[in-house]
Amino acid sequence: MIMRIYQEADYAAMSRRAANLIAAEVIRKPNCVLGLATGSTPVGAYKQLAVWNQQGDLSFKEVQSVNLDEYKGLAPSHDQSYRYFMQTNLFDHIDIDIAKTHVPDGLAADADTECARYDELVRSLGYADLQLLGLGRNGHIGFNEPCDRFVKETHVVDLTQSTIDANARFFASADDVPRQALTMGIGCIMAARRVLLIASGEDKADAVYNAFCGPITPQCPASILQLHNDVVLVGDKAALSKLAAAGVPVCE
Ligand code: F6R
Repeated sequence: MIMRIYQEADYAAMSRRAANLIAAEVIRKPNCVLGLATGSTPVGAYKQLAVWNQQGDLSFKEVQSVNLDEYKGLAPSHDQSYRYFMQTNLFDHIDIDIAKTHVPDGLAADADTECARYDELVRSLGYADLQLLGLGRNGHIGFNEPCDRFVKETHVVDLTQSTIDANARFFASADDVPRQALTMGIGCIMAARRVLLIASGEDKADAVYNAFCGPITPQCPASILQLHNDVVLVGDKAALSKLAAAGVPVCE
């Protein structure tokens, strides 16, 4: 594993560092494939990228994007769908060509066929040059939940109670959280040339520690990243607190 760890003071600094690393990739390769994530963690980085785009410092015109996941059963127009999230948090504010943005279709009549299509799409794009990941409190990446094996392909997953509870904050109640999602598998994530994992807050400290200092096990899906040869972890002090306590060297 070749890994760089940036420890930032707080969420704002973490977001700025992550945005810088994404911008560097887009500047280096204007037609790069960006693997994108949703959730609370990347919102600040997306805001920063939109500012740089609007200032004319960065263009996404040639970028292709592939998102990690989508809730099964939610329409793109549903305000909790991940397509809607991407539109409102990033795509509507930058010059990306919407035809070049890809999110699994949560409404596909046959979800397994949609998963196979999505897997083939990501493969045909040559996989992500940079895959942005958030981290679940249970160690999930995308919606690859703790499980007894690593699932390589894009697949339909039953969300765990921990994920349903964590995501209930976005819905009227936990009962409204979809029980299933379509998620990129571990194969596409690991095929990305570089992985950028971002984490913020004390409630991610155990997951960060388990992912990078624990055993490689599908019970902590992010632990597979120990086998990737180019991982950058950007976290705030709270999220990295257990790594730092274990003496893992970090860049400040
Ligand atoms: C979202 C995704 C998830 C989140 C994770 C952390 O596309 O793939 O793995 O990254 O659940 O979510 P937040 O950032 O809300 O803590």
